[in-house]
Amino acid sequence: MPVTLQFLKTQTLIAVSKSAASAIHLLLTFLICDFILTGETASSTMMQAAQYEIGGPEKLSVGQVAIPSLREREVLIRVHATAINRAETLQRQGKYPPVPGESEILGLEAAGVVEKLGPGASKWKIGDRVMALLPGGGNAEFVAAFEDHLIPVPITLPFTQAAAIPEVWLTAYQLLHFVGKLKVGEKVLIHAGASGVGTAAVQLVKQAQAQPYVTAGSKEKIQFAEELGAIKGFNYKEGDFAAKVLKATNGDGVDLILDCVGASHWEQNIESLKAEGRWVLYGSLGGVNVEGPILGKILRKRISLIGSTLKARSTQYKTELISAFSDHAMPLFANGTYRPIIYTIFLSLHHLPEAHRTMEANQNTGKIVLKVSESKEEL
Ligand SMILES: NC(=O)c1ccc[n+]([C@@H]2O[C@H](COP(=O)([O-])OP(=O)(O)OC[C@H]3O[C@@H](n4cnc5c(N)ncnc54)[C@H](OP(=O)(O)O)[C@@H]3O)[C@@H](O)[C@H]2O)c1
Repeated sequence: MPVTLQFLKTQTLIAVSKSAASAIHLLLTFLICDFILTGETASSTMMQAAQYEIGGPEKLSVGQVAIPSLREREVLIRVHATAINRAETLQRQGKYPPVPGESEILGLEAAGVVEKLGPGASKWKIGDRVMALLPGGGNAEFVAAFEDHLIPVPITLPFTQAAAIPEVWLTAYQLLHFVGKLKVGEKVLIHAGASGVGTAAVQLVKQAQAQPYVTAGSKEKIQFAEELGAIKGFNYKEGDFAAKVLKATNGDGVDLILDCVGASHWEQNIESLKAEGRWVLYGSLGGVNVEGPILGKILRKRISLIGSTLKARSTQYKTELISAFSDHAMPLFANGTYRPIIYTIFLSLHHLPEAHRTMEANQNTGKIVLKVSESKEEL
């Protein structure tokens, strides 16, 4: 497909409201950027990678850095596509430092082809199509990844879709099954139901024969989550959601809450839960400081409040999670039961500032993906 058509198909930045002249200028600018990025690397030891200084999205840029060297049981991946995550926007702001000893380049996930095997690596061969959960480094032309943290990418799944899977699907799978101990028939309330994690969670809950409910901040996002399988969605910006959750569940409440919001939802979370319900906290988009009788309310309902992070988990934990997720989910991606939900695909790393701005403005439903290397695959 000609580059211009690919560009338009991804709906990146040609806003219909712009004048023809500025649209043509934008198009030429990005095509030049894409050509520069997808051309041959300057030398066999250097690569293009995202760089940043602490601050706003304008502090993101693309520069030349050394291709990572490989440690024990690592493989080098030639990245075709990567995706962005809230943790990276926080890292850019100086609020979430890189994991000590790991790449300081942004990027918790990538999909591409195995380029080289490091010492002791034996699970993959050169040319294998893989996606990776990374401690960092994914927003680059090459990334080093631990061999147990890769998942094979079926030939039917384009890299631009595979790159949207590792971080949010593994998070949602972990929260539901490893942490939240979800059981058949249970009711689950998923906050940010149209987010990357939320859209994965809705599909996983449905597949587990449990019942997903969501909150989101717009009628369009709620409608999207309901079309994906949520039984009912509630707009948290239109007043208390707890009374609506209780009404929708015949007064029972839910068994489990996946909560990336935190402080601003605490009281309604407790009201929405059944006695002995589980409240899994995995983000704090609505703040961390709580005022009020939270402990008394947790005590009276015998609620379990469990915090969870993925990035900081041990290598062994991630290996077990990835293995369980791959066995469960990859056949379902291959046959189309599971769908990575993608809001937009930017054509190169040069669009990172726009990608971060889009996420920080809460515009996305599902994932924001960036194409990295030249690939003949359809977007
Ligand atoms: N602990 C972990 O292991 C882990 C792993 C991955 C992600 N996370 C966290 O999970 C969250 C979701 O990640 P994601 O990549 O799926 O995010 P995302 O796609 O960027 O979606 C986040 C959505 O949250 C909603 N939101 C933002 N601020 C809010 C607020 N103050 N109150 C209520 N809703 C708010 C917005 O949707 P609306 O328009 O609906 O408000 C926003 O689009 C993030 O906080 C992220 O840091 C945690």
